[in-house]
Amino acid sequence: MRAVEFTAKDAGRVAWMLGRFELFASLSPEQLLKLAPFVVFRDYEEGEVVIEKDDLGDAFFIVYSGEVEVTKPGLLGFEKLVTRLGPGAFFGEMALLLRQPRSASVVCTGPTELFVLMAPDFTRLLEAEPEVGALVKAIAKDRLDSR
Ligand code: CMP
Repeated sequence: MRAVEFTAKDAGRVAWMLGRFELFASLSPEQLLKLAPFVVFRDYEEGEVVIEKDDLGDAFFIVYSGEVEVTKPGLLGFEKLVTRLGPGAFFGEMALLLRQPRSASVVCTGPTELFVLMAPDFTRLLEAEPEVGALVKAIAKDRLDSR
């Protein structure tokens, strides 16, 4: 995994990239510019584990490019595929919202680029932008109900 540091002069480009995610569709250009400095960009290779089930949650992720697989332990110790998530999808919200350990593992199926928000910044975002919070919570609820 490689973390790409953004500088202040990248903020406009990062805000534009964030604005293309459905999750942030309700945010104005000004709100996106405020969010941009808190977002980290990470590059992963095929097979890299982003989240290990039962770990403590410290971050929230949005897929920019590539794909991840969400898996849980199944019968006889084999990993069971829960779902695949591609560009625009997010993950890692459950542990942060429910203050529980990670509910599943998440692994990259190929080269994958992720936007990352650390837990305190995720919490602040949800407080500051209720529409984003409502969307994240609705999808987390669907995921919980599908268990
Ligand atoms: P979290 O529990 O923090 O870490 C693992 C993540 O996998 C979880 O948050 C969700 O983002 C994701 N996840 C867990 N279960 C499902 C599901 N049924 N469908 C889609 N994503 C899921």
